[in-house]
Amino acid sequence: MSNPFREDLVSRSRAEACTVVIFGATGDLTHRKLVPALYNLAVDGELPHGVKIIGFARREKSNEVFREGLEELNKEVSRSGHDSELWSEYQESIEYHQSEFTDIDGYQRLADRLDAIDRERGGAGNRLFYVASAPEFFDVILESLKAVGLSNSAEGYWSRVIVEKPFGTDLATAQHLNEVVSNTFDEKDTYRIDHYLGKETAQNIMVLRFANAIFEPLWNNKYIEQVQITCAEHLGMEGGRGGYYDKAGALRDMVQNHLLQLLSLVAMEPPTDLSADGVRDEKVKVLRSLRQLDTPELIRENVVRAQYSAGHVDTKQVVGYRDEDRVDPESMTEAYVALRMHIDTWRWSGVPFYVRVGKRLPKKATEISVHFKAPPNVLFNAIPGATAGGNVLVIRIQPDEGISLRMVSKLPGTTLRMEPVKMDFHYATSFGKGSPEAYERLLLDAMAGDATLFARRDEVEEAWRFIDHIEKAWHESESAPAMADFVAGSWGPKAADDLLKQDGNSWRRL
Ligand code: BG6
Repeated sequence: MSNPFREDLVSRSRAEACTVVIFGATGDLTHRKLVPALYNLAVDGELPHGVKIIGFARREKSNEVFREGLEELNKEVSRSGHDSELWSEYQESIEYHQSEFTDIDGYQRLADRLDAIDRERGGAGNRLFYVASAPEFFDVILESLKAVGLSNSAEGYWSRVIVEKPFGTDLATAQHLNEVVSNTFDEKDTYRIDHYLGKETAQNIMVLRFANAIFEPLWNNKYIEQVQITCAEHLGMEGGRGGYYDKAGALRDMVQNHLLQLLSLVAMEPPTDLSADGVRDEKVKVLRSLRQLDTPELIRENVVRAQYSAGHVDTKQVVGYRDEDRVDPESMTEAYVALRMHIDTWRWSGVPFYVRVGKRLPKKATEISVHFKAPPNVLFNAIPGATAGGNVLVIRIQPDEGISLRMVSKLPGTTLRMEPVKMDFHYATSFGKGSPEAYERLLLDAMAGDATLFARRDEVEEAWRFIDHIEKAWHESESAPAMADFVAGSWGPKAADDLLKQDGNSWRRL
C-alpha cells in the first residue's frame, strides 16, 4: 500500500537548511505568523536541521527580551500549542540584530554575523531574507543587502528574498519595486508572498478541478451561471491596524492580491505541467483577460464601496469605521468592496464573477461558490420546491475547510416534493488532521526553491493594472461613485445586494 507521507516527500523539492533573516522582526507578522510557523515546522520535524533565525529591527533589545516576546505570542497563537521544553530548544536558534534600516553599517555587521555562523558550520551557507518591515523601507533594505554583497547566490549556496505585501500601492510603485528587486536579486531567487496561496484549500482548487474528471467538462459558460467569491472578516481595526488600513482600503489590501489570486485559480486553463512557470503562465492569462473597468460609468455600474457604521459583532458593540483608532474621521477609504467582474475568454464569456470582501461582517469566512445553470424546467415545474435553484459547488477556504455540493432531492414521503440537500466534505474529519498554516508551507517552499505558490512579477503588475482604474476613479474623478454604508455586523450595504439583483442573482448566505 502506498504511504501518503512518502508521496508528499516525493512531490516536493527538499527544503534546505539556511539562516532566515527577518526584517521588521518586532512587528506583528513576525510574532503572530512567521516565528510560530517556523516553530510548528520544527515540532512536526519538517524544518531542516540547523535553521537559524535572525530578527533584524530598529528597537534596542537583547536576545533574551526578543525571545521572551516571541514566546508569549507563540503561546497564544501556535497551531500545535506551546511546549516549553521544545520551545527552549528552538529559541536557541533565534537571535536579535539591532539596526536602523537605513544604516549600512548594520548590514555590514549582519554580513559579518552570517559569515561567522557559516564558519561555525564549516562552509558557505544559504540565506533567506524576509522583508516584512514597513513598506517604505523595502527599497533601502534590498539595496543595502546588495551593497554588502548579501544578495548573490553562487555555486553551492543560495541567497533568496521573500517580499511581504503590500507589493506597491499602485502599478507605478509596484513596477518600481520590481525594478529594485530585479536589480538586487535574481527573479528565480525572488518570492513575492501572497499567503492565500499557501492555504491548503486554495492549493486544492487545482486538484479539485484537474484531478476529478466530473468537474472540468462542466467548468465553463455552458454550464456555469455565475461564480461568487466572498472573504468576510468580523475584525475591524484592532491592534493599531487602522493606520495602515486607512491608507490602503479593502480593494488594495485584499482584492489586488488574495481575491484575484483565488479568482485566477478558479478561472485558469489547465497548465501544461506543475512547474512554477507552468502554473503562473496560466494564472496571469486570467488577469490579462479581466475586462477592465476603465471609465467612471463602468465603475459605478460594477463596483460598490462602503464603510461600516457602529453596530454589533458577536454581541459586542463596535464603533463605526471612521471612529476606529488611527482612522481619519473624514476618511474616504472603503472597508468593504463588492465587484462584478468578467473574464473575456472563450471559457468564461458571459459569466459574471462576483467578488466581495469586508471588515466587520458577521463572521470570518472565505468561500468560493460556483453556481451551475438550472436544468430545463420541463419535468418538475409544477412540483413544490422545483424552483429551489440549481447545483452549487462551494469551496470553503476557511474556516471549516472543505467542499460541498448542493443538489435537489426528493423529500421522503408519498407525494413528490423537492428540496435542496448538501453533500459535504470536511478536511478535519476526512483526513483526521488539521491543515498547516499558510506561512509554514510558504517558508518551506522558499527554502526548497519552489516558487509555484508565490506571485510572479507580471501577475502582480497585471493585478494592479485592473485595480488602478478603480482607485483612480474613486479618488480623482469629479464624478466619483458614492461611499455606501452598512451597519457593522450585517452582510454589507444594500447597494451590493442590488448589484446582483440587476442580474437576477443574490449573494449566497454564509
Ligand atoms: C492580510 C490583510 O493580507 O490578510 C488583512 O492585510 C487581513 O487586512 C488578512 O485581515 C486576512 O488573512 P487571513 O489569513 O486571516 O484570512
